[in-house]
Amino acid sequence: MVPRAASAYAEYVTAPSRNFARKPANLGHVEAAAVPLAGLTAYQMLTALADVQKDQRVLIHAAAGGVGHLAVQFAKQLGAYVGGTASAGKHDWLRGLGADEVIDYHSADVVAAIGDLDVVVDLVGSEATLAQSVAVTRRGGLVVAVPSGTSPELLARAAESGVRVASYLVEPDGHALGEIAELIESGAVRIEVEEVFPLAEAGAAHRLLEDGRTRGKLVLAVR
Ligand SMILES: NC(=O)c1ccc[n+]([C@@H]2O[C@H](COP(=O)([O-])OP(=O)(O)OC[C@H]3O[C@@H](n4cnc5c(N)ncnc54)[C@H](OP(=O)(O)O)[C@@H]3O)[C@@H](O)[C@H]2O)c1
Repeated sequence: MVPRAASAYAEYVTAPSRNFARKPANLGHVEAAAVPLAGLTAYQMLTALADVQKDQRVLIHAAAGGVGHLAVQFAKQLGAYVGGTASAGKHDWLRGLGADEVIDYHSADVVAAIGDLDVVVDLVGSEATLAQSVAVTRRGGLVVAVPSGTSPELLARAAESGVRVASYLVEPDGHALGEIAELIESGAVRIEVEEVFPLAEAGAAHRLLEDGRTRGKLVLAVR
């Protein structure tokens, strides 16, 4: 994964060796291709940024997505109590990945359903979910605002509640990628690939992603 310079789809890539890790032996190349960007994003947010500890309470907004389903599993591996928001049809699957509590954000009031969180990873990042994220976080806790950053109003509300808010941009990191590969190879973490598209159908894959309903990842296969 080379997030900065690449910005393209390719079968081969050059990068410093410190950016790479060996593919987990139990994954084919197609599944393995789904891991680095989503995996490092989830892993770095929960470890390097949030420093999640055993028995802490963590909520993942958009738990069923590419980053979210891995974040649920990494947070469990770190020993946290893990909640997630997702549509009802994805709840059983998320529980199977280790989520302790899943909230249907269509029908439930998230703020009434869960609270006193140490860390909220908000992978939706809308004004509405960020406001919820701040409201359910304990004083001194951390909201990781992923896609779009934060408004001055939200930061003011968070400051009043003693909640820290941070955004994060994933970094290439061969060492962390190696740790993720070990978790996958041991069977502790699973990667979900909803669909594989040929490269020529990249447009269809993007349209599906834009609907925002994907379970796990989509992969483009070059051949
Ligand atoms: N900062 C970084 O370094 C970095 C790196 C990677 C990704 N990102 C960003 O992180 C975000 C998540 O990426 P992703 O690839 O995981 O997304 P994704 O796979 O496209 O997310 C799809 C999932 O989002 C769920 N969802 C949609 N709206 C929701 C809502 N209001 N509440 C709860 N769940 C909702 C859907 O579940 P339902 O069907 O249940 O609604 C679906 O399973 C994106 O904005 C992406 O750009 C940032």
